[in-house]
Amino acid sequence: MNSPLKAFIFDAYGTLLDVHSVAGEAERHFPGQGAQLSALWRQKQLEYTWLRSLMGRYADFETVTRQALEHAAESLGLPLEAPVAAALMAAYRTLTAFADAHAALEALSPRPRIILSNGSPAMLEAAVRHAGLDHHLQATLSVDSLRSFKPTPAVYRLAVDHLGEPAAHIGFVSANYWDAAGAASFGLRVFWLNRTGRPPDRLGVEPATVLNGLHQLPQYAR
Ligand code: LAC
Repeated sequence: MNSPLKAFIFDAYGTLLDVHSVAGEAERHFPGQGAQLSALWRQKQLEYTWLRSLMGRYADFETVTRQALEHAAESLGLPLEAPVAAALMAAYRTLTAFADAHAALEALSPRPRIILSNGSPAMLEAAVRHAGLDHHLQATLSVDSLRSFKPTPAVYRLAVDHLGEPAAHIGFVSANYWDAAGAASFGLRVFWLNRTGRPPDRLGVEPATVLNGLHQLPQYAR
């Protein structure tokens, strides 16, 4: 029997906010290559967070995101002029929310709902506000105060301490399997959002529930 869920933690990028909504801006500058640039940019952004955490060389997510963009563009042979880099970085502050995000967040009310994200506070708050998600959230927490990225256990502790409930009473929602695994390993009740039918990673720990859209969350969130 599961403990009743008293509060929820959401990942931001890829879960509530569609990181690949930057592909349109990328396509404007690099016709025919927007989707590829967006995919490699995101992949490198995540790798850099893990590698920097392991090396003990934290740099904030804005820096990591810009460096990942530079690498991705160079890998694809795309000239990244400063104004284009600035436009693509700006696009990260105006990401689109997934269509099912608002209703799912609202349906969980009045239980507390917060974001826990790698994002640096300024870029994260701008994106959350632009997408109108702030209306449904009680807090937006960044890992920045800890100077380490997910899935470092201390990051999940930050959100659990903020909510003041035992981890087993808190639902954690992420579309990023590695983040879902990190949260499950920490002891949170995890909902992995698998929108595109991907196979799970093999990391020795599994989410409690797999969803194919956020619309399914309210019915399982008991
Ligand atoms: C975040 C990244 C992992 O929002 O998507 O933390």
